Parts: sequence; C-alpha cells; structure tokens
Amino acid sequence: MCGIIGYVGKKRALPILLTGLSAMEYRGYDSAGVCVQASGLVRIRAAGKIEKLRERLPPAPLAGTAGIAHTRWATHGVPDEANAHPHMDCHEQVAIVHNGIIENYSELREGLKAKGHTFTSQTDSEVLAHLIESECEEASGLAAIRRALKRVRGTYGIVVIFKDIPQTLFAARMGSPLVIGVGAHEHYVASDPSAILAHTRDVIFLDDGELAAVSSEGVTLAGLDEQPVNKQVERVTWEVETAQKNGNPHFMLKEILEQSAVVENSTRGRIDLIGTRAVLGGLRDVSERLEEIDRIIIIGCGSAYYAGLVGEYLLEELTGIPVEVELGSEFRYRKPIISARTAVLAISQSGETADTLEAVREAKRKHALTLGLVNVVGSTVARETDAGVYNHAGPEIGVASTKAFLSQLSVLALMGVYLGALRGVLPEREAGAVLAALYEIPDQIQMILEGRARISQIVKRHAAMGNCLFLGRKYQAPIAYEGALKLKEVSYVHAEGYSCGEMKHGPIALIDTSFPSVVLCPLDSVFEKTRSNMEEIRARGGKIIAITTDHDAVSSLCEEVIIVPKTLECLQPLLTVIPTQILAYEMAVARGFDPDRPRNLAKSVTVE
Ligand code: G6P
Repeated sequence: MCGIIGYVGKKRALPILLTGLSAMEYRGYDSAGVCVQASGLVRIRAAGKIEKLRERLPPAPLAGTAGIAHTRWATHGVPDEANAHPHMDCHEQVAIVHNGIIENYSELREGLKAKGHTFTSQTDSEVLAHLIESECEEASGLAAIRRALKRVRGTYGIVVIFKDIPQTLFAARMGSPLVIGVGAHEHYVASDPSAILAHTRDVIFLDDGELAAVSSEGVTLAGLDEQPVNKQVERVTWEVETAQKNGNPHFMLKEILEQSAVVENSTRGRIDLIGTRAVLGGLRDVSERLEEIDRIIIIGCGSAYYAGLVGEYLLEELTGIPVEVELGSEFRYRKPIISARTAVLAISQSGETADTLEAVREAKRKHALTLGLVNVVGSTVARETDAGVYNHAGPEIGVASTKAFLSQLSVLALMGVYLGALRGVLPEREAGAVLAALYEIPDQIQMILEGRARISQIVKRHAAMGNCLFLGRKYQAPIAYEGALKLKEVSYVHAEGYSCGEMKHGPIALIDTSFPSVVLCPLDSVFEKTRSNMEEIRARGGKIIAITTDHDAVSSLCEEVIIVPKTLECLQPLLTVIPTQILAYEMAVARGFDPDRPRNLAKSVTVE
C-alpha cells in the first residue's frame, strides 16, 4: 500500500525523506512526491519510480528542515503526477499525505466546490487538504485538523504540514498505521517503521482516534475526542526486512494474516447505508448495458481462475445470468462465441497477465462488454476494459496469491448483489442478508487466524506426505483446486484438487494409508454427499484432514479437524480457503522451503 514519511529536525529534510521512500519501495507504488517547508511549501511529484522524482528535484539543494513525502499505490484515480501526494489546498497553505480511503469524499468535495475550492486531482485524499484549510477559518493546527476529521468517514493515516506553522508536522490515525520516530532534537512520522529504522529505534505507535503535533523538540498527543493521550516511547528491535514484513518471517504469512483488513478494504464504502445495496461506482457508466446482458464469461489464470469459479456459482445464484469461466490461455486460442450482450469479466491481481489480457482483447474484437476485477490500479487490464472494480487489497508481494484471492471473492459477492438488484431478481431482503454476512467475514477470518498454531501442529504431524488430494463440492470445489495449487506452489508436495463428485472417476484409485485428503466439508446444502465421499476414503484406509464448520459432524471420519465459523453457503469459501493457505505456508516452512520464493514461479506472468 502507500507509504508515508515525515521529518522535522535540524538536518535537511529532503535527503531523509527520499531515503525513507526508498526503504518502502517493497510495498509497491506507482508515483511519489515530497513537500518541504522552505519559503512556502515546495512540492515535487512524479509518476513512476522514485528515480523519476529525483530527476525532478531543483538543481540547488532545498534547505528546508521539515517535510513530508509519500509513495502512492493508486486506489482512486490513475497513477499520474496530478494524483500523486502530497496534496495541497488551492492557496497552498496546507499539504497532506494520506493512506486509507475517504468514503464520503465526493459529498465533501461537492460542498467545498460550492465554497469556491477547485480540485486538481481525482483522488479522495485531496479533499482532506481543502477541508483542513477551510477549517483554518475557525481554528488552527491540531484543532483545525480535528474539526476536519470529524467530518470524514473512512480510514486514514495522515501527516499534515502548514505553510504558516514552521517546524511542525501534524499526524492523525484512523485505520491506517502511523509511527512516530523519536531522535535527538528531531522526529519522524512514518506509515512503516522500516522507513525510519536507519535513524532511530525509539518509537511511539499511534492508535486509531489519536492525533499528534510533532516538532523537533517534542511530541504532543491528543484524542480526536479531545481527551489527553499519554504514551510511552517503545524500542523497536526488529531489522528492516522484518519490519517490512510487519514482524513476520515471510510476506506470504504477512499477507495471510492481514486478510481480515483486506476484506474490510475491498468492501469499504461499497455497501449503502441501509445495507441492502452494493455501490460499485466503477460499473455505473455501463449499467444500461449490464441490464441487457444475457451471459457472463469470467476469464482468469491461476488463483484468479479459481476465484472465477466461485464467482460462477455466486453470480448465477444472485443474478440468474448464465456464467461460464474460462482460462485466459484457452479462451484466446479457440473461437469463442460472443455477442454484444455478453459481458467478459477479467479477473487479475496484477492486471498484466498476458493470457488474460489477450482474452480481453479477443472479447473486445467481438464487441463484448469487457469488465475488469483488478488489484493494480492503472494496469493494462484496468485500462483496456470498458469498466471494472478494483480489489483494494494493497500490493501483494508473496508470489502465491492469498489476500488478492480473498479480495476477489469479496468483490464478486458485491458484484452479485449489485447485478442482482440492477436486474430486479434479487429481493432487498436477500441482498441485505448477503451484505450483512459479508460484514461479519473479517471478524470470522480473525477467529480462524487465531487458530493458526493448531494448523501448524497438524502440518508437523503430516509433513512427510508426498501427495495430497483436496476435495470439495459445489462452492467448495474451487477451494479444493485453490488449496491444492497453493500446496504444490510453495511446499512442492504433489497435490490434486478435485470436486467430490469426480473422485470416484479416478482419484479414488490413488487412495491408501499414505495418501491423505484435505476435505472441505462445511455444513452446507451438499454436506451429506460430501460426507459419503469421506466414508469412501475412510473405507480405503485414507487419512482425512477436514475443514468444516461442525466438529462432531465429521470427527469420527477424520484424523484432523479444522473448524471455521459458519456463514452463508455462498460466502463460505472466504472462510474455508484460509486454513488451506495456512496449511500450504506451514508445510513449506516445515519442509525447509522459502514460501516467498517458490522455484520456477513468477508473480506476474507477462509471457504467453
Ligand atoms: C501467477 C501467480 C498466481 C496468480 C496468477 C495470475 O501464476 O503466481 O498467484 O494467481 O499468476 O495472476 P494475475 O495477476 O492475473 O491474478
């Protein structure tokens, strides 16, 4: 995600800010910018790499000793210079850097426009600079920021600098991390400790609802609710690389563990206030065509393809529109029958996978409505499709997709509710039930993650396995395929994903006491059938690791039982997939492999 660094002290701010940005490069970004207090606020921004930003710097060094900087990973607006941070108000009195999403930015923006503010970017963040400046009519510094933030709905980690308040940074946090670094006659503010660890290990972590005024000599903390805040300075003992992984040994684990927040971010601002409608601004412009479509083809590769398979069941159930799912690499080489009433939905984390992209182009040639479900803003699939929805999962660094997959499922559920309502086939009550269940998912994910140690014990007991069969039925079949893919990708255990119904047509021949099966068997509409398949495995001496919602319903048939909370059948994949990711991760570690660097695999496959 985006990275923030701020500095105030006796040294020149600019070199410190640029080094801090470089330390956050691993987070992925598409543009960067700095703003230094010199004579006025001097801002320099550039699209692309930090090198591009360095090329834009004035020849004479900037003398200012206070400043803020940002690397942006686009969510609202294309990754160009105008959308890069820092953002300023029209009078260049206030500059801000912001991580997070301001949900009510368009209504705030309209209000400010009516008061004469002009906006220069498409971002939600710019509104904060204008809002704070407008509050300066009534208050100043921290008080003006507090007044502005009370009008904001959404998440933020912000650092603010005012033209007329020298040598002071202001910071505030709600849902987006910020840490203050304490040095000798200097302070830092960053979204990521790795940006400041080269300078200091003494830090104050801000919590949600806290604000800070930071000068070279001290830090004053306060609550958004105006209550005083007292905090101790803590000493960070991590190394930079560990800090980048948020203290975890691998990015894959970090990304698995942040999935609760990922689902929140993917759905944030996309459910109306009453909770019965999905609000997907990216599809608004094509809503008339969406009312007319008679078929949806989902395209993807790897995990994105399996997300599409879950999407097939979800969209058919919620919208009544026939859905097919195709591998990008197959779709483009046959002669797909497509009409102008076909919507082709490309799912891709990177938005750059060559086969998915070529399939989109083929669909466009045949006049289909093309849609993207893409994580990387401004990527080629995002640019070349007619419309789409971003995942908002943040950059995914682990080669094997985890959090992007979960965000794809979240958005597919929202799309189902959106299209079901648009076409008048999904009653408000049912839509409300899906959205209410989706709202519960982050807490349920957290419960599963808290049981990670148990899954790790299970893996230790089975670490010597040479093969593994993953089985599921209906909504759980794609999770079986995805679970098998994850295991083979990172731990090199040969794994097959099969739908339960097909087991008797082949894989059952492999079952013996040394060939275990992971069975996805929540108590859903097909549970009894899945249970029969488990009996069949059992009868052949096969060992079973069950992922279920009810221990007692399966325990007599299994060696191991992993429990996940129960949700609606159509959302259950968002929960059952998590133990499969943990199994794969723990298996890789138990067998001595680095899950972040699986052999022969690339994060983004841009060749055919
Ligand atoms: C690679 C990655 C997978 C990913 C697939 C599709 O194989 O290792 O994790 O699912 O590409 O990538 P995309 O960026 O299109 O989702």
